[in-house]
Amino acid sequence: MIHQCVENVVVGVESTAHTLSFGLVEMDGTPHSSKSSLFRPKEGGIHPREAADHHSDVAADLLSSLMNDYELEPNQISAIAFSQGPGLGPCLRVGATIARALSIDWNVPLVGVNHCVAHIEIGRNQTGCSDPVLLYVSGGNTQVIARAGDRYQVIGETLDIGIGNMLDKFARMQGIPFPGGPKIEILADEWLSNNSDANLDEVSLPYSIQGMDLNFSGILNAAQMRINEGCELGAVCWSLQEHAFAACIEVAERALAHTGKTELLLGGGVACNERIRGMSEIMCKERGATAFWPEKKFCVDNGTMIAELGRKMIQSNISTDILESSVNPSLRTDHTTIVWE
Ligand code: ATP
Ligand code: FE2
Repeated sequence: MIHQCVENVVVGVESTAHTLSFGLVEMDGTPHSSKSSLFRPKEGGIHPREAADHHSDVAADLLSSLMNDYELEPNQISAIAFSQGPGLGPCLRVGATIARALSIDWNVPLVGVNHCVAHIEIGRNQTGCSDPVLLYVSGGNTQVIARAGDRYQVIGETLDIGIGNMLDKFARMQGIPFPGGPKIEILADEWLSNNSDANLDEVSLPYSIQGMDLNFSGILNAAQMRINEGCELGAVCWSLQEHAFAACIEVAERALAHTGKTELLLGGGVACNERIRGMSEIMCKERGATAFWPEKKFCVDNGTMIAELGRKMIQSNISTDILESSVNPSLRTDHTTIVWE
């Protein structure tokens, strides 16, 4: 149990997809670990209604445990932030409803935040980088982003599914439960440690980049074909990671070249992966740039990142009227005006 006394905090509620999470950040930007619960479907993919029911079921206990662990009283809370989008409608609505109720009960301002921008801001908070190109690799999103004026502009992205979604789907086809990305990383590492002379040509997969954009449906189908042809699962996991991650890193490198920026920041759940971290580091080193990533608990969806963006918005005098607090499942990264440094 964590027992810490904190004052003047922003509480954040994350509920865009599979995770319900409450987190907090102090007004000087000091973040604290979130309390999270991950919905794991018994079979198949994530059904939005079932995930939303999970969030409703666990919300009260999760919030109590956050309040107890930090010995938090309502009078120490300055604002309540929530993910307004993008995400799954039913899941977003659970988080928004909780946040509205808390805003009224605690008598504090409500702040609806852009989930994608929150991944960026917690990364900046944690790593100290200032003006990075962001490689945002999660289940639902794969984007290369750079700040231009008052927006985080998307300068390259997946044209079909997110990279994490692709890894999870491939895993599910092999009977590996959600989330499959971490297990694929383990299988790839184990296979490579027993096959140090491995050759990518022996487990060939497509490598798909169109300009600054990516896609992952083709590689997903091809990976399953390699399995059907009798390739070892570990070998296919290894090749899948090598191809998919290299494609992301290539787009990120072009973004660094085009923008002239010298920092690369990884964010999103797939940024937990040691191989994509290692590839980022190699690429950056070769071009005199620096790679950054936050701790794993701040790469995956978490309430603390929502609180951190909420803090920046509140300190920029931005809050959300309850009448304007409806969720937006298709909110874009570049929709949000950035008025803070
Ligand atoms: P978003 O709404 O931003 O798209 P998300 O709902 O996908 O986020 P995250 O928690 O950011 O949620 O990311 C979850 C994804 O991260 C899952 O697809 C999971 O498989 C993947 N992931 C987590 N750890 C690893 C890892 N070590 N290697 C590869 N993928 C990972
Ligand atoms: Fe996310």
